[in-house]
Amino acid sequence: MAKARSVYACQACGFQSPRWLGRCPDCQGWNTLVEERENVSAETQRYAVRGDSRATPITDVQAADTPRRMSGIGELDRVLGGGVVPGSVILIGGDPGIGKSTLVLQALAALACDGVTLYVSGEESPQQVKMRADRLGTASSQLLVLAETSLERIIEQTKLIGPTALAIDSIQTVYTEQLTSAPGSIGQVRDSAAQLVLLAKGTNLPTFLVGHVTKEGAFAGPRVLEHMVDTVLYFEGDRGHPFRILRAVKNRFGSTNEIGVFEMKENGLQPVANPSALFLAERPVDVPGSAVVASIEGTRPILVEIQALVSATSFGTPRRTTLGIDPNRVALLIAVLEKKMGVHLIGQDVFVNVAGGVRLDEPAVDLGVIAAVASSFLDKPVDPHTLLIGEVGLAGEVRAVGQVETRVREAMKLGFTRCILPESSRRQLATFDDMTLEGVSSLAEAWELLF
Ligand SMILES: Nc1ncnc2c1ncn2[C@@H]1O[C@H](COP(=O)(O)OP(=O)(O)OP(=O)(O)O)[C@@H](O)[C@H]1O
Ligand SMILES: [Mg+2]
Ligand SMILES: [Zn+2]
Repeated sequence: MAKARSVYACQACGFQSPRWLGRCPDCQGWNTLVEERENVSAETQRYAVRGDSRATPITDVQAADTPRRMSGIGELDRVLGGGVVPGSVILIGGDPGIGKSTLVLQALAALACDGVTLYVSGEESPQQVKMRADRLGTASSQLLVLAETSLERIIEQTKLIGPTALAIDSIQTVYTEQLTSAPGSIGQVRDSAAQLVLLAKGTNLPTFLVGHVTKEGAFAGPRVLEHMVDTVLYFEGDRGHPFRILRAVKNRFGSTNEIGVFEMKENGLQPVANPSALFLAERPVDVPGSAVVASIEGTRPILVEIQALVSATSFGTPRRTTLGIDPNRVALLIAVLEKKMGVHLIGQDVFVNVAGGVRLDEPAVDLGVIAAVASSFLDKPVDPHTLLIGEVGLAGEVRAVGQVETRVREAMKLGFTRCILPESSRRQLATFDDMTLEGVSSLAEAWELLF
C-alpha cells in the first residue's frame, strides 16, 4: 500500500507543517502538533454512507429498528442500554489490572454463541489469552484470537473472517502504517480509531475498544476518541476490593445512569444481582459515623453506607476530604449543619467516604451525609435499621426526592425497619407493614428522631 503523505497539524489553531515542531509558530502552543494523513478522503469515501443525501422531514425518516444482541452478561447489557447494538463502537477504559481484558474476553465468548468473534490482542500473546480463557472457562472454537498491532492487518483479517463482534485490546497498541509516529501517540490512536469506527459502521460490526487511562483517569490519547465512539464505559473499582463497577459516561443508544456491578473471582467477573446487599455486607453495626442511604442508579435503587470521621484538627486549616461524593456538596452540608444545628466543626477535620467504591451524585443522599457527620461528631451511632432519604436545602429544610417508593422497597428487602424521609414524600406513600415511615420537614426534626 502506498504511503500517504503526512502533515503535522496544530490541534489548537489548524496550522500545518511538513515536519514536527515543539511549538506552534502560529498560536505559540506547546506540543500541539500532531501527525495526520494529508489525504484521508479516499479512505473515508470507501465506507461513507451511500445514498442520495437530501434533507427529509424527520417524520419521513425510516426508523431503523436496531435489534440488539444480548451479550449474555446481564450487567454489561444493562449498562449498554439493553444489549449490544450492531455497528456500535464501545470504548472501555479503566486502571491497569482492573479487568478490562477479562470483561471483553467474557463478552466475546458469550457473543460467540451466534457466530465467530475476533479478539485482537496487542498486549498479550495468544498463549496468555488462552490461559485466561481457560481460567474463565470460556474457551470456544468460535472465539478467534489474533495477536496483531498493525491496523492494516487487523482490518484485512477482520474482513477475511467476517466476525460477528470484534475487540481490540488495546487501541493504544494499534498503529497504522500510514503514519510514522509511534503507536500510542495522539495521531496514531485517533487515526486507528477512526478507521475502526468506519469499519464497524460499514460492516455493522459491534466493536469493543479497550483504552488505557492516564493517572488523572481520562483516556490516554486524544479527547476526540470519546467523541468518535458511540459508547464510553469506565471500569472502576478499588483493587483491594473484589467489586468492580462498570459505568457508562456516554451512550448514544441508552441512558448513562445505569451501572453494572461485578465481583472479580478466580473464574472471572461475576455479575452481582443484589448490589445493595454487597455494599452493606461489611457495614459496622452500632458504630458512630455510619448511615445508610438509598441512591437510584439508572433504573435500580442501591443502598450504600456513608461513613464519616470527625476528628480534631492537629494543625492549620481543618481538612474536608471526601471519597465517592462531591466535596463541594459535603462542604455545603457541613455549613448547614453548623448554622442550623449549632454543631461546631471549625476545629475539626471531616472525612466522608462512600463505602464499596460507589460514587454518589444525587441530592437524595444529603440527609444521610449529615447524619453520618453528626453521628461521628456526637459519637452516637445511627440506628442500623434506619434508612435516610432527603435533600437538604440551605435553610435546613428537608426536600422531597423522586422515586421514594422504589428506595423504601429496596430497604425493606434488606431488613430495614425504619425510614426517615421528607414529609412531603411520606404523604404520597401508602403505609407498609414492616416499615415505619417518619416524615420530617426540617433538619431539626430529623435530628430529634436520630439522636
Ligand atoms: N487467578 C486469579 N484469580 C482471581 N483473580 C484473578 C486471577 N488472575 C487474575 N485475576 C484478576 O484479574 C485482574 C487482571 O485482569 P485483566 O488482565 O483483565 O485486567 P486489564 O484491565 O486488562 O489489565 P491491563 O491494563 O494490564 O491490560 C487482576 O488484577 C486480578 O484482579
Ligand atoms: Mg488487559
Ligand atoms: Zn497553533
